[in-house]
Amino acid sequence: MKISVFGTGYLGATHAVCMAELGHTVIGVDVDATKIERLAAGDAPFYEPGLPSLLRTHVASGRLRFTTDYSEAANFADLHFIGVGTPQREPDFAADTTFVEQVVRDLAPLLPRNAIIVGKSTVPVGTAAKLQELANTGVARGLQAEVVWNPEFLREGFAINDTLDPDRIVIGVANANSEGEQVLRRAYAPILERERACPVVVTDLETAELVKVSANAFLATKISFINAVSEVCEAAGADVTVLADAIGLDDRIGRKFLGAGLGFGGGCLPKDIRAFMARAGELGADQALTFLREVDSINMRRREKMVELTSRACGGTVLGKTIAVLGASFKPNSDDVRDSPALNVAGMLSLKGANTIVYDPKALANARRSFPTLNYAESALEACAGADAVLVATEWREFVQLDPETVGAVARGRVLLDGRNCMPSDRWCNLGWSYYALGRG
Ligand code: UGA
Repeated sequence: MKISVFGTGYLGATHAVCMAELGHTVIGVDVDATKIERLAAGDAPFYEPGLPSLLRTHVASGRLRFTTDYSEAANFADLHFIGVGTPQREPDFAADTTFVEQVVRDLAPLLPRNAIIVGKSTVPVGTAAKLQELANTGVARGLQAEVVWNPEFLREGFAINDTLDPDRIVIGVANANSEGEQVLRRAYAPILERERACPVVVTDLETAELVKVSANAFLATKISFINAVSEVCEAAGADVTVLADAIGLDDRIGRKFLGAGLGFGGGCLPKDIRAFMARAGELGADQALTFLREVDSINMRRREKMVELTSRACGGTVLGKTIAVLGASFKPNSDDVRDSPALNVAGMLSLKGANTIVYDPKALANARRSFPTLNYAESALEACAGADAVLVATEWREFVQLDPETVGAVARGRVLLDGRNCMPSDRWCNLGWSYYALGRG
């Protein structure tokens, strides 16, 4: 099939590459000429395991190309995916749908024949219906462009696998006999025809839009639940990690997303819960989601608590202390530093007078750009050299596997702060390290 993907960020670039992998001919479109040049040269503009090799393969085979020219995409493809961003809008924290709308405004008049437009961006409920109106008014007389909603559930770090082997495919359509649904099923046929194919949920546009934000709100709630319990564990002298293991054994609860620690960050969960609350308010259902405000504040409190714990571990103040912060990305296997708890904590420690030295295996360049006033090191050991305390803020495997003896030989103090409850504490304690973690009494 001939497919276009508008927006070549984490979502769009991954989707374009994966559609080529499924056998389609794909054109990726973006307004950012630099990004398009890099992608066209087979160079992924962000770190995502597995993406560079698939990108190079399909650019080389000619199945995947990139352009800034909307008319090229309009003429080429019959199925147009939209994966542009919906950033947080100031000051009401709602999602800004300007870019999604602009794609449809610009694309519709250029369409030379009937087409299907598939929204994948995370949007406030009601956006798809609005886009259908924009498409109706934009297309040339006699033509039709059906808007379908197909939310994306990929996680950074696992984006390729999540796209090629999803848990479910949700298709939102306005009418029961939607041509868009059939076209989309054909596009995903290589996934749907597998022996153990994932379920397909076909529903109306509004439900499809809400499925996505509800899923992210649930994940955020689950993380904040365990982090709230973590606060009680701290007060009571209990251990949240053992507690999470124990409640997670109940398969109605499950252990996933009960990782207590610095909480959630990134470009999705924090923004999506705020946008969900804002949209519920617009719809007159604001009371329904007031609990998400609490989810948000529990999450933000963890970062402050981490700073307090660091001060305590450093003898009451971090002023004049050197702290190695291991991790800058919002989670491992990503170079994304958007709303990163790690950098937020590093920034707060620095404001309190600490000499903060940050290291991350992949996110250093992005971290330097966002927080230019922090100090950075090129390796974990370089960051730890002369440090009074070592704070693990992102659970990269490289940090979990650090040798306490080697780190101890270069650090000034043997103080380990585990912001993700990921470190083998016994190993470190046996070698004379003092170990501090959130929720561990
Ligand atoms: C999230 C969702 O998991 C995806 O399903 C969704 O498609 C995506 O947002 C999106 O909307 O595009 P992502 O932001 O890549 O994916 O990251 P997650 O793996 O969900 O992690 C989010 C944050 O929660 C990270 O900061 C992570 O460290 C934190 N987290 C996760 C915890 O603090 N504890 C846990 O137990 C799990």
